[in-house]
Amino acid sequence: MIVTIDGPAGSGKSTAARKLAARLEIAYLDTGAMYRAIAHEALQRGIDFSNEQAVLEVARSIRLELDCGPTHTRVRVNGHDVSEVIRTMAVNAVMSQVARNQAVRKLLVEDQRRVGERLGSFVTEGRDQGSVVFPKADIKFVLQATLQRRSERRYQELAADGESVQITEVMDNLAARDQVDAKQWEPLLTSDAVIVIDTTQMTIIEVVDLMEECLRASLHR
Ligand code: DC
Repeated sequence: MIVTIDGPAGSGKSTAARKLAARLEIAYLDTGAMYRAIAHEALQRGIDFSNEQAVLEVARSIRLELDCGPTHTRVRVNGHDVSEVIRTMAVNAVMSQVARNQAVRKLLVEDQRRVGERLGSFVTEGRDQGSVVFPKADIKFVLQATLQRRSERRYQELAADGESVQITEVMDNLAARDQVDAKQWEPLLTSDAVIVIDTTQMTIIEVVDLMEECLRASLHR
């Protein structure tokens, strides 16, 4: 079974994907972690992010390994676990420049399909999972929420990780990322086969319950 969840940052995708995968006892694939891992490595190397070729070179030269379980995706770059360090504001600030690099996207789409083949059944989360990477998925969701609500959620996550940041900074970063990211997931909104959930006023449990209900209904159809 393949379940795809796409949508903007802070819409609740990651938590919902993890919880749904745990309930279904299948793997959780966090594709954003791959873009983040490349952004982190590029920062370590001090490369110029406006140089597309240099960004691609980073993506090509690293060994990116994913360990996908029902409640986690752990990411290793050249054998080093980077699962936590890829979540900082420093990485947030530059990763859109990795995400808009078409050659890097091509590379990662191929990687994601390979991982998908290995996993068999999984819940995958990103921006282009239902549209580009797994167009034949059994069920496709898009999660949305207002910028205000998404910023509050991301701010709380960063604060919980001990990062000192202003909510206005988080909101500016999300708004800037939306400009790049929306191109990937907005085309899904015009497809009848996609279930759109506005999570602004919902708790995470309500979101996961609704997804599970939709999934069961689609299996009985
Ligand atoms: O979901 P996230 O915030 O961890 O995503 C990290 C970055 O990667 C963000 O800039 C969006 C981008 N991304 C993407 O372009 N396509 C995906 N399938 C997943 C993430």
